[in-house]
Amino acid sequence: MTALGPADWPPSAPISTPRLVLRPSEARDRPAFVELFSSPEVGAHIGGARPREEVEGAMPEVPGRRPGAFVAELDGAMIGLVTLDPRDPGRPDPVRPEAGGTELGYLFLPEAWGRGYAGEACAAALDWFAATLPGEPVVLCTRTDNARALRLAEKLGFTELERFEAYGAEQWLGVR
Ligand SMILES: CC(C)(COP(=O)(O)OP(=O)(O)OC[C@H]1O[C@@H](n2cnc3c(N)ncnc32)[C@H](O)[C@@H]1OP(=O)(O)O)[C@@H](O)C(=O)NCCC(=O)NCCS
Repeated sequence: MTALGPADWPPSAPISTPRLVLRPSEARDRPAFVELFSSPEVGAHIGGARPREEVEGAMPEVPGRRPGAFVAELDGAMIGLVTLDPRDPGRPDPVRPEAGGTELGYLFLPEAWGRGYAGEACAAALDWFAATLPGEPVVLCTRTDNARALRLAEKLGFTELERFEAYGAEQWLGVR
């Protein structure tokens, strides 16, 4: 099991898709990060939105600077975040040997939903990951009632490993 490290990150150049650019975060993305993490629509799917002042106060000057964290930019402005993070060993899901050490996450601003941007960005990030760490599996976990997230996972080629109960809801664990 290999994780992304400083040798892999950042990519040698921003990644361009037909409509988007994927790149590491910058200070100018801060307002969009605050928006993302205080949005009630986004928060409804990730354990609840936090009050804007609290998010604003806690947000670093340059948020999201870590290996595998891609800002998705449309026409020069951040619309979402795609992450390839090491899996948290404290996760509540049952340990499965086929589940690798990397987990895909995606969060987009609600005004960008329903246009295929998240799918386009995630597909490009997964292609980059596969070229960087060939053969490494990627897992994804979402609540089964998060219809958009689940539809996207299946479109991206994730297949179900199992369902389990955690955080008061049924969770879907997929692998690709
Ligand atoms: C999960 C999330 C990223 C999905 O966003 P999304 O916009 O629905 O996902 P996609 O990029 O796959 O877009 C698919 C939709 O775009 C539509 N679409 C429009 N133009 C399109 C295009 N050119 N290409 C592809 N799809 C297109 C599709 O028909 C589909 O519409 P539908 O939702 O009405 O069926 C978003 O809902 C989100 O940020 N949610 C909150 C955070 C969250 O839940 N994250 C996951 C936690 S595990």
